[in-house]
Amino acid sequence: MPCQSSDELNILVKEAREYTKEGKVANYIPALGRANPHDLSIAIQYPDGQCISAGDIERKISLQSISKVISLALVLMDRGSNYVFERVGMEPTGDPFNSIAKLETLSPAKPLNPMINAGALVVTHMIKGNSIEDRFQRLLSFIREMANDSTIDYCEDVAQSEFKTAYLNRALCYFLKQHHIIEEDVEKLIDLYTKQCAIEMNCLELARIGMIFAMDGVDLESGKQIIPVHISRICKTFMVTCGMYNASGEFAIKIGIPAKSGVSGGIMGAVPGKFGIGIFGPALDEKGNSVAGIKLLELLSRNYKLSMF
Ligand code: DON
Repeated sequence: MPCQSSDELNILVKEAREYTKEGKVANYIPALGRANPHDLSIAIQYPDGQCISAGDIERKISLQSISKVISLALVLMDRGSNYVFERVGMEPTGDPFNSIAKLETLSPAKPLNPMINAGALVVTHMIKGNSIEDRFQRLLSFIREMANDSTIDYCEDVAQSEFKTAYLNRALCYFLKQHHIIEEDVEKLIDLYTKQCAIEMNCLELARIGMIFAMDGVDLESGKQIIPVHISRICKTFMVTCGMYNASGEFAIKIGIPAKSGVSGGIMGAVPGKFGIGIFGPALDEKGNSVAGIKLLELLSRNYKLSMF
């Protein structure tokens, strides 16, 4: 029996909130350092429109790496999987999300998967459009459609803060440019990528996007197939194998839900055929995942038998 009431969620949030003390907010992007480490919220969105939630649910968070799975879906729709996977691989790395190490040892130098920063930069490079603005607006419209909210936008402060300090991501881009995996101007790509990562929403909207992936790309409320089934399946598979970075194996064993995290402390979950989950808890563990968010998912998965394995 799935979790049916916000009261049940409140109990789990109370228990998991204790774990916020064990993490730290990200500060390598200065604007993220201003988050309250004790915040924790969760929303569950069912395909019939029912939604339950608990915690600081009105708080907006930037998507950060959660955007990587959404840009991947858009690019697969734009270009097809042959084109995309000629430029980015399908394998987990076991390395931190911003590592440059494997790029140098692999031939060709294509990033191992689209969820690490190197791979996500290649994916953002492949978003179609006539200008950076045009490409960003296409991604934003896609996100608004999935979340069913036309007011979703990016936070200029967070985008600027990352743009000014993205030295490592610039290094990854220059490496990829040297090897002709990307061809465009690096500053323009970093501009687009940092805006993508700064798109913000609350956990209710995040849960709705998770639900679209959970339901094989269909929005049952509008009846629209927003993402083709085979692309939704590819995205969910990456969420299982690489969505929590070098903690994905342990996460699959303990929780067993396709999920994608971001350094803002967000986690988007997609329980196949059932519902979407949006979590916000900005205190992170050493691998860049929300400490209390993972605890919350562990409790949820155990109590309601949600593991897909
Ligand atoms: O590129 C970065 O470093 C950030 N904009 C996103 C990284 C991220 O969210 C990693 N997640 N845990």
